[in-house]
Amino acid sequence: MSLHLSIDPESKKDIAPSVLMPGDPLRAKFIAENYLTDPRCVSEVRNMLGFTGTYKGVPVTIQGSGMGMPSMGIYSWELITEYNVENIVRIGTCGSFQKDIKIGEVIIGLATSTDSNYIHAFDVPGNYSPCCSFELLSKVSQTSKEIGIPFIAGNIVSCDVFYEANPDWWKKWAAMDVLAVEMEAAALYMNAAYHKANALAIVTVSDNFATGDHATIKERQESFTDMMELALNTVIK
Ligand code: HPA
Repeated sequence: MSLHLSIDPESKKDIAPSVLMPGDPLRAKFIAENYLTDPRCVSEVRNMLGFTGTYKGVPVTIQGSGMGMPSMGIYSWELITEYNVENIVRIGTCGSFQKDIKIGEVIIGLATSTDSNYIHAFDVPGNYSPCCSFELLSKVSQTSKEIGIPFIAGNIVSCDVFYEANPDWWKKWAAMDVLAVEMEAAALYMNAAYHKANALAIVTVSDNFATGDHATIKERQESFTDMMELALNTVIK
């Protein structure tokens, strides 16, 4: 039984096989209202809104994930195990660790490092490397060329803590060529791997730790549009 999504499990068709997951439920509403044809609200438990409609004729669901791995972990697990979701693309923002990866650039998490204990749920006898789906990566690479929205791909880190006490905390990740920090992708990649679903994280740089830059409201809005178009055109392939 689905505890956190209000969709009737008998009616699996409420949720599309491909789901985009922004952190912010109001962003899910914005994407649904501006990009989908005939969007309808399919989940509103705890105001974590989800919408299903079509994009260029293909059914797509946009479901808020909330912030952090516990929240993403719950929603993505239920989507995959209870609603037979095959593809999940996280879309969100990140903080870049590299001075040459600037505000507004799009990063794809090929793999996610993490400081979280989420992997303990799976009881693996060693270290585990959560990675994205090669199928979705191939599709996003093709889409990027077709619609002219470039991206950088590499290792990102999913962290449990936003407000770190030590201002230099990020430097050792940066030294390992980790591109950026966000807070959800590792849980999504682990859940997808465990249940043999496809996952991808597409994140736009809203902050840069190396330069101290932050996105303006206008930059946030515009860069979000690029990422949404990349994600939508990828999942309908
Ligand atoms: N930390 C974590 N996640 C983020 C950040 C950050 O600084 N910026 C955007 N997403």
